[in-house]
Amino acid sequence: MQSLDRFAQDKLDDLERRHLRRQLSETVREDGIWVERNGRRLLSFSCNDYLNLTQHPAVKQAAAAAIETYGAGSGASRLVTGNHPLYAELEARLARSKRTEAAVVFGSGYLANTGIIPVLIGSDGLILIDELSHACLFAGAQLSRAKAIAFRHNDVDHVRALLAAHRHEHEHVLIVTDGVFSMDGDLAPLAALHALAGEFDAWLMSDDAHGIGVIGGGGGSSYIGNAYVPVPLQMGTLSKAIGAYGGYLCASAPVVDLVRNRARTLIYSTGLPPACVAAAIAALDIIEREPAYAALPVQKAKAFIRRAGLPEAQSPIVPVVIGDAQATLAASNTLAEQGFLAVAIRPPTVPVGTARLRLTFTAQHPDEAIERLADLVREKILK
Ligand SMILES: Cc1ncc(COP(=O)(O)O)c(C=O)c1O
Repeated sequence: MQSLDRFAQDKLDDLERRHLRRQLSETVREDGIWVERNGRRLLSFSCNDYLNLTQHPAVKQAAAAAIETYGAGSGASRLVTGNHPLYAELEARLARSKRTEAAVVFGSGYLANTGIIPVLIGSDGLILIDELSHACLFAGAQLSRAKAIAFRHNDVDHVRALLAAHRHEHEHVLIVTDGVFSMDGDLAPLAALHALAGEFDAWLMSDDAHGIGVIGGGGGSSYIGNAYVPVPLQMGTLSKAIGAYGGYLCASAPVVDLVRNRARTLIYSTGLPPACVAAAIAALDIIEREPAYAALPVQKAKAFIRRAGLPEAQSPIVPVVIGDAQATLAASNTLAEQGFLAVAIRPPTVPVGTARLRLTFTAQHPDEAIERLADLVREKILK
């Protein structure tokens, strides 16, 4: 065997031994909630399509109309000829919903985070990042070459101590956190972090990938109760509740202009297909028009945890932490035998020893199916 193939095979064997090898399973998403996978029809509790908008007739129709008008692809980077007219409308809509002066749309959430962070902070800067933040925030921090320190999850006192110890060593400090934690479903203490950032002249950036559309009346994790936290750097994605694809940053006009000028993942990557942008605009329309519908995923998650006997749900994401990777795969199979898709999430996506079923609730999940799943989780998984 060539050394390259041997290298790959050794790595795969090691993953297999640790029950961490992953397989791509062909999945046909029939509608908002049902999928066909490995020859089985399953009710999915593993999609991030919280509002089932990927399949909404108005969203699909907007995408199809955009293809007819502007073509299948955008043809170039946005800064060359890929900046089709739908972008301006989407960016204005996002900025309005996040109450910022401006917004800029990227090719994906991952591209947004890896593009934005290195624009704002360099090798002489400091990044304080929640230890459970999404992988692409860590990737952005790494690309910036700034000193990065992970703070204990949602621990504002730890952030304060780090600022007290290190703020004076750096001209600029960026505090980075998920707004809704992707694998745990809990919310960041954005109001407290915002106050702390003000006190120490640090910049706060939130990743609202799992908040937009479903938290705070659809506005996202910056809207807490009736209050709005003016987080200056509000990043997010259009690929989850919005049902399309693409990432964004909502911020002040000069910050957005700088990002447009300097973010390598925006400059050196092709603009989004027009269909994605049109679909996102149509989805934002629906969310704005139907706040009661946008509130359903969290309501369904809360109904589930009450019946399953799990801690309070703050978002549509409910972790059922099992711990061991092999046991989590077995639990996922148990639920599949009962007609439910609950994909096992294993390290390195989550910390070692915290493998879990990450359940996601959507607006269209029937209440009786949620009850049956809760009973199964309580009686067969957490027994
Ligand atoms: C918190 C968070 N940030 C960013 C991303 C990346 O977004 P995208 O899928 O648009 O690349 C994801 C999801 O994959 C996420 O969960």
